[in-house]
Amino acid sequence: MQKLSDNIVEIEDLKVELMSVDGIVTAVRGVDLKVMRGRIHGIVGESGCGKSVMTKSIMRLHDEKKTAYSGKIFFDGEEITGLKEKRLRELRGKDIAMIFQNPMTSLSPIMKIGEQISEAILAKSDISKEEAKTKTLEILEMVGITPAADRYEMYPFELSGGLLQRVMIAMAMVNEPRLLIADEPTTALDVTIQAQILNLMKKMQKDTGVTIIFITHDLGVIAEMCDTVSVMYAGKVVETASVMELFDKPAHPYTKALLDSMPKGSDTRDRLTTIQGAPPSLSMNIKGCSFAPRCKYACDKCKSEEPKMTKLDVRHTSTCLFAAELYKKGEIAIGN
Ligand SMILES: Nc1ncnc2c1ncn2[C@@H]1O[C@H](COP(=O)(O)OP(=O)(O)O)[C@@H](O)[C@H]1O
Ligand code: SF4
Ligand SMILES: [Mg+2]
Repeated sequence: MQKLSDNIVEIEDLKVELMSVDGIVTAVRGVDLKVMRGRIHGIVGESGCGKSVMTKSIMRLHDEKKTAYSGKIFFDGEEITGLKEKRLRELRGKDIAMIFQNPMTSLSPIMKIGEQISEAILAKSDISKEEAKTKTLEILEMVGITPAADRYEMYPFELSGGLLQRVMIAMAMVNEPRLLIADEPTTALDVTIQAQILNLMKKMQKDTGVTIIFITHDLGVIAEMCDTVSVMYAGKVVETASVMELFDKPAHPYTKALLDSMPKGSDTRDRLTTIQGAPPSLSMNIKGCSFAPRCKYACDKCKSEEPKMTKLDVRHTSTCLFAAELYKKGEIAIGN
C-alpha cells in the first residue's frame, strides 16, 4: 500500500490573479503552506488579506476564465492546478468539502433540508434514495438537529442561523471527506451559538479524523480550535507555527500586533480593529515588506528588500527580515 504523506495539503509558491472590472487583483502572492493530516489548521488575518481566495484555490473554485494560477497545490499527492474539470468535480463535495459564513449561499430556499442532504449523498454515490434518507437522518442526529425525522421535512427559512450552520456541517461531512475547509463558519453567529458550533466541529474532527482548514479573523477562535496556524497578510503567509508556539513566541511583527490587539475581556468581536492603518490594496505592486507601513520595527531595509521565509523550528516559519531576532529575544532592536 502507498504510504500517505504526513501532509494532506502542500502548497508551493502559489500566486492567484483575479481579473475584475477594476483591473487585476493579485490576491495570493507566493504562498507556501503545509497542512498536516488529521489536524485543524487555522488561517488568520484581517479582512482582505487573501484567506478566502487562497483556500478556494485548493478546490479551484474561482471562475477559470478570470483567474490565473501559478505555483503548485498538492492534495494527497494529486496536483490540483493541473487536474481536469472531471476529476475536480469528483473531489469537490466528496474528498474536499467546504462550509462558508452564510449557509444560505449554499442551500436552496425551496427544498427541504433533509432532501438537500440526501441529494448531496446521491450526487457522490450510487446508493438508493431510501438508504440516502437513512444516512441523512443519522447525520442530522449526529450534528444535533433533532428530532431528525421532523427536521428532515423543514425548509431553511424555518431554522435559526446556528441550526443552518449545523445543516452545512452535516452536508459537508456526510460523504466522509478527507479535508474540510471552513471559511469563517461562526463569524455571523452570536457568541454562545459560536461556541456550540466550534465544539461540534471539534467533536466531528475527533470522531472522523478529517483534516480541517479553519479560516477566521479571530485569534480567540484559533486558540480554541486549532492545532497549527498560518497568519496571512497582503496575500502571503507571514508566519506558520503550532498554536502554542504562535501565542508563546510570535516571530512576526504582524502576529505580535494581532496578539496585542486581542481584548482581554469576554467580547470576542472586532478584535482586529486596533492595529493602526489597513492592509494594502492587492491590486497594487508592493515593494519591500508589505507590513512596513504599519510595523513599529520598520527600517530602510524593510522598505526595499522583500523578506524571505525564515525557518525557526521544525514547523515554525516567519517572513520578516528580523524573524530570528524576534523569535529569540521577543523584540527587534530598532535601527537595524
Ligand atoms: N472575485 C474576485 N475578483 C476580484 N477581486 C477579488 C475577488 N474575490 C476577492 N477579491 C479581492 O482579493 C483580495 C483578497 O480577498 P479575500 O481572499 O476575500 O480576503 P479575506 O478572505 O482574507 O478577507 C481582496 O482585495 C478582494 O477584494
Ligand atoms: S521585515 Fe521589517 S517591516 Fe517587515 S515585518 Fe519585519 S521588521 Fe516589520
Ligand atoms: Mg474571507
